[in-house]
Amino acid sequence: MTSEWWRTAAIYQIYPRSFADANGDGMGDLAGITARLADLAELGIDAIWLSPFFTSPQKDAGYDVADYCDVDPLFGTLTDFDAMVEEAHARGIRVIVDLVPNHSSDQHDWFQAALAAPVGSAERARYLFRDGRGENGELPPNNWESVFGGPAWTRVTEADGTPGQWYLHLFDSSQPDFDWTNEEVREEFRRILRFWLDRGVDGFRVDVAHGMIKADGLPDWSPAADAGSMGGGAEAEAVPAPYWGLDGVHEIYRDWRALLDTYPGERILAAEAWVDPLPRVAQWVRPDEMHQAFNFAYLETPWQSDALRRVIDDSIAAFAAVGAPSTWVLSNHDVVRHATRLALTEPNPQGHGVGPRTPGLGDPATGLRRARAATALMLALPGSAYLYQGEELGLPEVIDLQDDARQDPTWFRTNGERYGRDGCRVPLPWTASAPSYGFGPTDAAWLPQPASWASFARDVQRDDPASTLSLYRSLLAARRAHGLASGSLEWPLGETPEVLSFRNGDVVVVANTGSAPVALPAGEVLLASGPLDEASAQLPGDTTVWLRAA
Ligand code: BGC
Repeated sequence: MTSEWWRTAAIYQIYPRSFADANGDGMGDLAGITARLADLAELGIDAIWLSPFFTSPQKDAGYDVADYCDVDPLFGTLTDFDAMVEEAHARGIRVIVDLVPNHSSDQHDWFQAALAAPVGSAERARYLFRDGRGENGELPPNNWESVFGGPAWTRVTEADGTPGQWYLHLFDSSQPDFDWTNEEVREEFRRILRFWLDRGVDGFRVDVAHGMIKADGLPDWSPAADAGSMGGGAEAEAVPAPYWGLDGVHEIYRDWRALLDTYPGERILAAEAWVDPLPRVAQWVRPDEMHQAFNFAYLETPWQSDALRRVIDDSIAAFAAVGAPSTWVLSNHDVVRHATRLALTEPNPQGHGVGPRTPGLGDPATGLRRARAATALMLALPGSAYLYQGEELGLPEVIDLQDDARQDPTWFRTNGERYGRDGCRVPLPWTASAPSYGFGPTDAAWLPQPASWASFARDVQRDDPASTLSLYRSLLAARRAHGLASGSLEWPLGETPEVLSFRNGDVVVVANTGSAPVALPAGEVLLASGPLDEASAQLPGDTTVWLRAA
């Protein structure tokens, strides 16, 4: 008998660089997380997922791993990690870590050995080295582009000083892709999985879980339209990308699942797979593969009742068809925070980010109202929900970061044409009146915090019943009390344009995605994402309410 905790879990994403800084160097760390676990327990989440804290030159904020089995000194030590896991487990919070198998850092021992080794060596065969095209190999082996902009190939200088082969990097040039057809790579990742499982982790979020296998021969490919950099929008592609979502990735996950199943305690795999449509995403969570896959189709759906209804139905159907729960997510460290995104009036492809020159930024107050309503809708849905640190404070994207403060490789590789993801990664405000708003003991913060952060600080929200933090706490408590995550939906309850309404167990949920008020159905109000006018029985625009079912 298992609890299958992952089917219903509320999972809180910690971005360690920006969560809490114990030593005052301006960079969050593991000791900072341990010290703040009480706040997360109070929030009412079931698990945390940590973005990478492994040894890394930090060219892509730690998604460039140089040693998969150690902690970067920026974040602490393995002893700090063990202490963090112990404290989390003592509080009933499970711990998921990030696994980055598509590529390593160029500072990884294997890649350094590959650079030193000759063409055709076993060391090079762990990565994707190829000869260039053109008379003297001066052109890249194919026309693929990096997700972060620019070519996906970099030419190396051979040991004798001559221009040599090229290596593939779907992301930054500091992130060479592994060759997953090489058994040595597979065995190394089994070792890495065991290392963290033995240390007690409850699961892995698998980075770029749709990218590890490339089409034979690495054929040229030109995307049809810019549909987002991570492969979302594949439906629009006449010829699918020769590196996103190839069938060969699935045997890797079957292998890992079998390995995880040898451990006690329901350890899980969660896929970051930017593919569509949803039935394709569901392939990652077939019974012998992963447990969860991020629902980016949901994240990308605009705040519109008909589109939301469609994606909710499609999600539940697609995942149920393979016996998996749906997941739900609105924000993470790669996308514009939903308190800003839901008010944008112009299209904004994933990864491009927003900044001072972005058109159609919309009204921040509308954004926050919609974000609160969208979260109230999401947390009423059956399945597992992911929350990204800071959304419980209603944080917006930081739009006006100075150019010279930006750090995302996207910004550099596109010469500032795309702002990238720094705006959602600014260190959290904990205490309004403290240096760095309580992020750490000094005023250091690796990305500058705006002055407006004081009003979002956790301490000013904690005892304010109208705050976004109080809303999240109430939503998570009521989600648990009413068993919504293991429930099922019945809908529609009446047809009103711009209104989404359904019943889940003994709760009726009504979301008004329009701007004009609509009639508030009769019944006891359990929760509302914003002020209601109960006297005139109106549900204002951009507001979601939970009512006790009659
Ligand atoms: C991670 C990103 C990272 C990329 C390369 C992603 O999907 O979430 O933050 O830049 O993989 O590792």
